[in-house]
Amino acid sequence: MATIFITGANRGLGLEFVKQYAQQGHHVIACTRHFTQATELSQLATLHSNIQLHELNVMDEEQISELTTVFKNQPIDVLIHNAGVGGFQCEALGGMDQKGWLEVLTVNTVSPMLITQALLANILASKAKTIIGLTSILASIDDNNSGGRYSYRASKAALNQIIKSLACELSDDGVKAAVIHPGWVKTAMGGADGKITPAQSITGMMNVIENLQSKHSGSFFVYDGTQLPW
Ligand SMILES: NC(=O)c1ccc[n+]([C@@H]2O[C@H](COP(=O)([O-])OP(=O)(O)OC[C@H]3O[C@@H](n4cnc5c(N)ncnc54)[C@H](OP(=O)(O)O)[C@@H]3O)[C@@H](O)[C@H]2O)c1
Repeated sequence: MATIFITGANRGLGLEFVKQYAQQGHHVIACTRHFTQATELSQLATLHSNIQLHELNVMDEEQISELTTVFKNQPIDVLIHNAGVGGFQCEALGGMDQKGWLEVLTVNTVSPMLITQALLANILASKAKTIIGLTSILASIDDNNSGGRYSYRASKAALNQIIKSLACELSDDGVKAAVIHPGWVKTAMGGADGKITPAQSITGMMNVIENLQSKHSGSFFVYDGTQLPW
């Protein structure tokens, strides 16, 4: 049994991660920013005693700092940076402003770094020592042939750099870090036209995470195990 820590776990891909890891019998620390609005997650937690709920707004630096104390001496095998925003309010040329842009950067880029920093001792104390960032194919500079989505593309490309740096810096400690594009998934963010269901995406990503070896650390995966160009 491993301990899995997931941000943004109340809906979409985060909720499906919780479901599938809990069904496999793992200890799941499921973070959500509003307990009161996490009805489905709360119901799931009543069915599975291995789900531990924790309130975390990833934009709240104080809550992030407190993670070190709250989870002191608790090994965390897999840290999944799932919480994300699409930046739809500031994605087009002519439609951007500093406030909107900084929110996207804070949630998608800065918070994963600060959360990793706060929980590093927990990761190092675990068996799997794995850090995963939910990225997007839109972060790939090689693949960018259409432009647009400025804040989102930039925030996820920067997340890729962070995870790559963590993979390099922590390799001697046995830490594995990778980013995964979940596919185009039918969630609030992906919309109804998404090509796959959350269940398909999560089954694939859990397979990638389970089979992640040191030699793959620092890679840019797709949920089906293939890799993307940076
Ligand atoms: N769906 C896709 O097609 C797709 C494709 C590529 C990458 N991704 C990435 O996959 C991840 C999950 O996406 P999704 O499709 O599941 O999106 P989603 O349905 O919009 O869910 C986003 C999750 O992030 C949480 N979140 C946002 N801001 C937060 C904050 N400040 N503090 C805590 N939680 C916060 C949301 O919580 P609230 O309910 O409180 O807002 C929600 O749980 C994201 O990182 C996204 O960029 C998705």
